[in-house]
Amino acid sequence: MVEQDFIFKKVKLVNGFSSWESPSNIALIKYWGKYGEQLPENPSISFTLSECKTITKIYYRPKKEKEIDNFSFLFDGSLKPSFNNKINQFINRISIYIPAIKHHFFEIESHNTFPHSSGIASSASAMSSLALCFMEIEKQINTKISKLDFIKKASFLARLGSGSATRSIEGPIVYWGNSKAYDDSSLLYGTPLNNIASVFTTYQDTILIIDKNEKRVSSTLGHQLMKSNPYAKNRFIQANENMNQLKDVLIKGDLDNFIKIIELEALSLHAMMMTSSPSFILMQPNTLFVINEVYEFRKRTAIPICFTLDAGANIHLLYPHRFFKKVQNFIKEKVLKYCVSKQFINDHVGVGSKKI
Ligand code: PMV
Repeated sequence: MVEQDFIFKKVKLVNGFSSWESPSNIALIKYWGKYGEQLPENPSISFTLSECKTITKIYYRPKKEKEIDNFSFLFDGSLKPSFNNKINQFINRISIYIPAIKHHFFEIESHNTFPHSSGIASSASAMSSLALCFMEIEKQINTKISKLDFIKKASFLARLGSGSATRSIEGPIVYWGNSKAYDDSSLLYGTPLNNIASVFTTYQDTILIIDKNEKRVSSTLGHQLMKSNPYAKNRFIQANENMNQLKDVLIKGDLDNFIKIIELEALSLHAMMMTSSPSFILMQPNTLFVINEVYEFRKRTAIPICFTLDAGANIHLLYPHRFFKKVQNFIKEKVLKYCVSKQFINDHVGVGSKKI
């Protein structure tokens, strides 16, 4: 049976262990709309984060003959049946690319460094850490692979779990999708951007927790609704243009134009939600109160702070590290009252995933 599956290469049956941590990321140009097997309708680019990450460990062994399942999953030490479908789908998708998967059983354990149900999207860190563990397993069982190919394939696999996860393998900034701005950009995996002004390597992302509840509309459904959104075509054109403009901004350290593009992207993403059918709103009243406070603070102090949003109500405040103290005071004085249980997380731009 094993020989029939793989004419040229026998799959070795092995016991082993792999463990990786991978961070979340925050998109500057937003990916919203996909086709085929998790291919983005427009290019996107993100800051890789540091503190908000998922740590995943996988113990594996040969699969027993009559065993139906091929994995078990513990999150923070407990069973999480609600995650099983997503993991199952992911493992099925990547098993074409990692033949050994079909012949092994995987005990998966994950935990996040950020509070679960804080409304922070965890699919990027979760799926990228899983993809890296499976790549490590592939390396242990089957192949010699160069470091570069390992990273590329991990990003490729992560994409099959969650599109944005493809941008979490490396840092500090990663782009993904066809874009005129970057010749080497790929639809299939993320590529790190090296040519950036040093100020961007100091960027802080303070995440204000405005709503902890699970999203009313999943991003899977949100992407799907772009297929019939009457503004979708123009949105994809706009994202491409913003990618082109952001390229220069990132090289030059042009913070004024950075702010313009980043806030426009955040609001355009949410405009797509509001103009889909059925329409939906993921922002909360407090999201808007905070946005107004940011406008006011920036006008008053000339500090180059801006906001961005994920597919949710929480606000990400982006600013260079040299303004850390002033921004922390602003948060305490003006916006903490809008956060659930006064909760926020100070994160910053980081270098990507790590084997542990
Ligand atoms: O990775 P997904 O399918 O959950 O999509 C996430 C999309 C956004 O977070 C809203 C934007 C992005 O580019 O990360």
